[in-house]
Amino acid sequence: MTLMAIIGGTGLTRLPDLTIVRRERITTPYGDPSSELVFGHFHQQELVFLARHGNPHIIPPHKINYRANIWALKEAGAASILAIAAVGGIRADMVPGKIAVPNQIIDYTYGRPHTFFETDLELVTHVDFTHPYSPWLREKILTAAQVAGVSIIDDGVYGCTQGPRLETAAEINRMERDGCDLVGMTGMPEAALARELGIDYACCAVIANWAAGKTAAEITMMEIEANLVAGMADLTSILRHFVQA
Ligand code: HPA
Repeated sequence: MTLMAIIGGTGLTRLPDLTIVRRERITTPYGDPSSELVFGHFHQQELVFLARHGNPHIIPPHKINYRANIWALKEAGAASILAIAAVGGIRADMVPGKIAVPNQIIDYTYGRPHTFFETDLELVTHVDFTHPYSPWLREKILTAAQVAGVSIIDDGVYGCTQGPRLETAAEINRMERDGCDLVGMTGMPEAALARELGIDYACCAVIANWAAGKTAAEITMMEIEANLVAGMADLTSILRHFVQA
């Protein structure tokens, strides 16, 4: 059995039901990851968990050392990564509290170190990123959700913004015209870096709020946190079936 990694996002800095075997601080050629790697057993499956925003420190999305995180997981032996991310809902069915498994990405971030292929190159390397998420990993999540009896949205274009501020209503309108269904701040360059290192990667997006301008109400951290608590309960149930499949 190959080692699976889970990257936990906002609202999931630790994994419930994880029996911790050891913690490891790894340094990488790109600096330190967001947190120590936590190795353990989750319903009999060995896995490694990383808190994307640090634990207990909160690292904002644009300050996360994505390269160090992905490099550390590769070094730990992870062959696949299930990334958990809080997002805003743009498409009408992307209702707060629900979970979506996106199948495409549009990257609006800037100034983030976003590649391992920068220096000491023998060849200029362009990885194929036509389908940014691993198809088999996505299918496995969708099947686990079905078995768990959790209704889940089986597609979606994830638009990744720079943050840390939320978007304007006009920015969300533009993203919608571009074809985005969800908006988050951490999906990139994380997914592309995993592809560069040959790690299978898929995302479970927990919808925390309606994106800016989609309701008259202001978006509050309280609303985000309440919806994440609801979504995370479903997510834990999906994960349990995922690892037991
Ligand atoms: N926009 C960007 N990122 C987010 C949002 C949002 O509305 N909600 C949770 N993460």
